[in-house]
Amino acid sequence: MSLLEVKDIVKEYRLPGQAAIRVLDGVSFAVEAGEHVAVVGRSGAGKTTLLNILGGLDKPTLGDVLLDGQPFFSGRGAAGRRVKLRATKIGFVFQSYHLLPELDIVENVMLPTMTGFAGLPDGERPRVRACELLAKVGLGERLHHLPAELSGGEQQRVALARALMCRPEIILADEPTGNLDALTGGEILKLLFEVNETPVACVMVTHAAEAAARCDRTLRLDRGKLV
Ligand SMILES: Nc1ncnc2c1ncn2[C@@H]1O[C@H](COP(=O)(O)OP(=O)(O)OP(=O)(O)O)[C@@H](O)[C@H]1O
Ligand SMILES: [Mg+2]
Repeated sequence: MSLLEVKDIVKEYRLPGQAAIRVLDGVSFAVEAGEHVAVVGRSGAGKTTLLNILGGLDKPTLGDVLLDGQPFFSGRGAAGRRVKLRATKIGFVFQSYHLLPELDIVENVMLPTMTGFAGLPDGERPRVRACELLAKVGLGERLHHLPAELSGGEQQRVALARALMCRPEIILADEPTGNLDALTGGEILKLLFEVNETPVACVMVTHAAEAAARCDRTLRLDRGKLV
């Protein structure tokens, strides 16, 4: 069994009075534990739509996603299962960081433990782990800064620490280096692949050839199909 199984995903948008637009047209692939997969394709190809479905943030029109063999969208209790899987097994990193501006960076990193679903092993304190992760990404001296006081690359380091907080099995990253210069982006990728204690799988949408080259495999989306 693969870590992530993506089965015949179709996604259509229906706008009132118009024919349905098919954005994903039968996408299937699998990701093994610890594997790094890049998803490339031109703007509008459906990359973000696919990533959001992989993370259970959006629903496909047809098809299903299984994480550790557990289906996201079919079967009894799918909605609750999806929330739990997302909280416990998936970390997200976005192009524009999505940090909460009024929380300092330690609190931002601790956020995933506050959902009530994801936790840390008994006795491990969220604040301690958050500080450890921030030290690993080079921000140990900045713990009580607000996101606005950090550079883009530093904010993305915080987002990376947040994504790793609950020791996910897979990171889903949408253009994680898209707002950064090449050097800073390279540092973020290095951290993304190396900072976790155990190998963590990753599906990364990227326009950067260097980023794709660091992955084990590249999937190309063209008008909703893998080519
Ligand atoms: N809520 C929506 N309603 C209608 N169409 C949508 C909606 N969301 C996305 N689309 C359409 O789906 C297509 C794929 O969008 P998506 O954001 O997945 O592309 P992308 O490959 O991530 O592009 P980019 O590289 O620019 O980020 C686009 O044509 C977009 O206009
Ligand atoms: Mg996109």
